[in-house]
Amino acid sequence: MSNNVVIPTSSIFKDDILKGKVAFVTGGGSGICKGMAEALARHGAKVTIVSRTLSKLEAAAKEMRASTGGEFLAVAADVRDHKQIQVAVDKHMAHYGRLDILVNGAAGNFLSLSQHLSFNAFRSVIEIDLIGTFNTTKICFPHLKASKGSIINVSATLPYNGQVFQSHACAAKAGVDALSLVWANEWGPLGIRSNCIAPGPIANTVGMAKLAPEGTDSVRVPIGRLGEVRDIEHATLYLASEAASYVTGQVLIVDGGNWLQPSLEFGYPQVCEQELNMREIMEPEKAKAKL
Ligand code: HXC
Repeated sequence: MSNNVVIPTSSIFKDDILKGKVAFVTGGGSGICKGMAEALARHGAKVTIVSRTLSKLEAAAKEMRASTGGEFLAVAADVRDHKQIQVAVDKHMAHYGRLDILVNGAAGNFLSLSQHLSFNAFRSVIEIDLIGTFNTTKICFPHLKASKGSIINVSATLPYNGQVFQSHACAAKAGVDALSLVWANEWGPLGIRSNCIAPGPIANTVGMAKLAPEGTDSVRVPIGRLGEVRDIEHATLYLASEAASYVTGQVLIVDGGNWLQPSLEFGYPQVCEQELNMREIMEPEKAKAKL
């Protein structure tokens, strides 16, 4: 899809807005969450990145140290296994001594009709996205309580319109949204904020490759372009910073309006036809009069 809009090439945030803060980013070795980790470091935070494969994490950490001059710790752990996450958080605390920003970004996805999903396939995505988010947050809680920290959960708009081929991810991300609300409510009195970012179609990511395997030509976005990782970085910096100190329990949708108009996937003439059909059902007398 065309990209007429100018995206800022440098950050619009001051370099030191997260100075003294420390972040723990699951899924931070690649894709959107790597961008989130990099943006946090670029603005003063020290960062731990976590995913399953240490070699990929170490390569990502090396690259981001070079690009930001920031401090990165790479720790391998599978969010599905709370014991592994406990070890990872312990390593983080031994290294940095504090935790201010938790990004729950580890996720897995693929396209499949519900009837074609194996039981294990459904469970795998629920375990990574939803149970992984719970595991990590529960284990980080005492440290977030000590720092009056901030939780940023990576969610999705997919559940809002029951996206086809996405029953597993819809169920998981709706659960993530719900957890985030509960944490905002339960832990707001302790000074902890909990919010979600729901990215739309973001160019050059694994998620995009998996969810639009036929290419992006058919992707329609009101704002007129695909998202960039940078768009999610900006949302992350806002939610992690003092600018959002009175913001909790929110889902910040960063999708150029993509989720607002799923029926456009079928093309505009078809949408007009669909509207006419609906009118005929809702107001049959008026529709007859027009014929
Ligand atoms: C149907 C599939 C499948 C597919 C895997 N499975 N891929 N079923 N269609 N394309 C099934 C397998 O057959 C298996 O079931 C079960 O899922 C688990 O698969 P494994 O490969 O054994 O598990 P694992 O190695 O843990 O991999 C988990 C995964 C994988 C989710 C399947 O894709 C993964 O790790 N992905 C991480 C990277 C990723 O997907 N990132 C994109 C995130 S995008 P059986 O019954 O055979 O044992 C994202 C976007 C959200 O989340 C929305 C934004 C708009």
